[in-house]
Amino acid sequence: MGKIKQGKILESKTKQYIYIVQSSHETTKCKIGATIDLKRRLKDYNNMTGKSKENIYRYLFNCEVKDMTQMENEIKKEYSYLREEKSKEIYFYNSDLFDKFVQFIKSHKLFVKEIFLKTDDKKQIVKLIKKTTPSLIERGISQKDVLQKAQKIDNDEFYTRYEDIEKELSKYEKKIWKNKRVFCNCDDPVDNDERRTSAFSLYFIKNFKTLRLKKLICTHYSGDVDLFNQGTKGYVFRKEGYKEFKEYPEGYSGSFDDPLSLKILKEDTDIVCTNPPFSKATDYWKITLKSGKKFLIISNITNPITPAFIPYFKNNQVWAGYNRIDYFLNPKKELVEAAGHWYTNIPIKNRPKYKNLKIIPLKDIPIEYKKYDDSKCLVVDKGYIPNDYKKPFAVSARPILNGLLEKGYKIILDTQYFPYEKGKKKFGRVLVQKT
Ligand SMILES: C[S@@+](CC[C@H](N)C(=O)[O-])C[C@H]1O[C@@H](n2cnc3c(N)ncnc32)[C@H](O)[C@@H]1O
Repeated sequence: MGKIKQGKILESKTKQYIYIVQSSHETTKCKIGATIDLKRRLKDYNNMTGKSKENIYRYLFNCEVKDMTQMENEIKKEYSYLREEKSKEIYFYNSDLFDKFVQFIKSHKLFVKEIFLKTDDKKQIVKLIKKTTPSLIERGISQKDVLQKAQKIDNDEFYTRYEDIEKELSKYEKKIWKNKRVFCNCDDPVDNDERRTSAFSLYFIKNFKTLRLKKLICTHYSGDVDLFNQGTKGYVFRKEGYKEFKEYPEGYSGSFDDPLSLKILKEDTDIVCTNPPFSKATDYWKITLKSGKKFLIISNITNPITPAFIPYFKNNQVWAGYNRIDYFLNPKKELVEAAGHWYTNIPIKNRPKYKNLKIIPLKDIPIEYKKYDDSKCLVVDKGYIPNDYKKPFAVSARPILNGLLEKGYKIILDTQYFPYEKGKKKFGRVLVQKT
């Protein structure tokens, strides 16, 4: 009864606030909380850290609301999947997620207004909110400019959706990650700017404990295209246990072939995991495969029949992962279609797509799916594979992605094979043969 009365008083007289706060030591997380005294709450957080100059809490967002308890509970419910632990109001953070939280709060019926703090702590707050990356206003560009520039960028700026990463990575045994150092070398984990944060980083940050990772390293590429006029400033983000560091080494571009990235790859990596830029895939594969490290990466679905990559499949240095990827997000966060596939050198257990291979005697393959080209080479389609044919025959990328090379067949030519039918060039394939 007493409690209800108190609640009523609180509702009628006291202003109530929702805040998002972050510690400078853990930039991949934030806390979303409720209070009736914003200044006091921030002071409490900073007292907790013993006034350490290196670990300071700052507000990222504050607003007045009609009922902070209800609002807090609804945020908890809406974003339960982004909470570090069920018992705490700690949420994973990157600029995309932050936008999501703020949008949810601002469009909620209990939202009153955003609060911009001017407090005695001004000095401290001003110092704290000084971003490493200048704001759009500071850089003299508008949101519209950013979007216009973004439109000019090709599929190198296609971002992987979180669910696609989760779908693929959940298929591998957890033990492959145990005590491992994961390197995401084309991934912005906690960029201060919009649209650049990577779901790869978020996946590993979120699952760091569950996967029992030893270390996560993610790098930010400063870019050929300086999308945000922020200058060329590559950075390295490291997470080891609870400790997180972000460094801007002098002269570091963040490119996967920058000397520092190569050093990390060589000396501080067990598994590479990313979606590298499509246009630089040839160089990326060369470097990654040469490193001898384990990898799990996304590339074009046609790689098994593309000359630059065929030798890797032929030499059994790479094989398809479990899933293809049909959609990515562009820098405007719109869904775009593109044909990607996971590739790896980590063992695949009982590949589910074996079932798409129809390995049967040649005579049983329907006539429309077996043809002989102008040079009398057999060309098969629709997943049909002859199990009694001794000579080389041509297949598309699909059977390779479905695991044909794990079923007693090998690629016998280092490059593409183009069948000609009645003098007409058909699309490229690879030549395989039963071993
Ligand atoms: C296809 S996007 C994928 C981004 C992110 N890995 C993901 O999956 O969402 C490729 C990313 O690599 C970045 N990039 C381009 N060239 C790079 C390079 N030489 N080294 C590292 N990253 C590069 C692009 O800016 C872009 O953010």
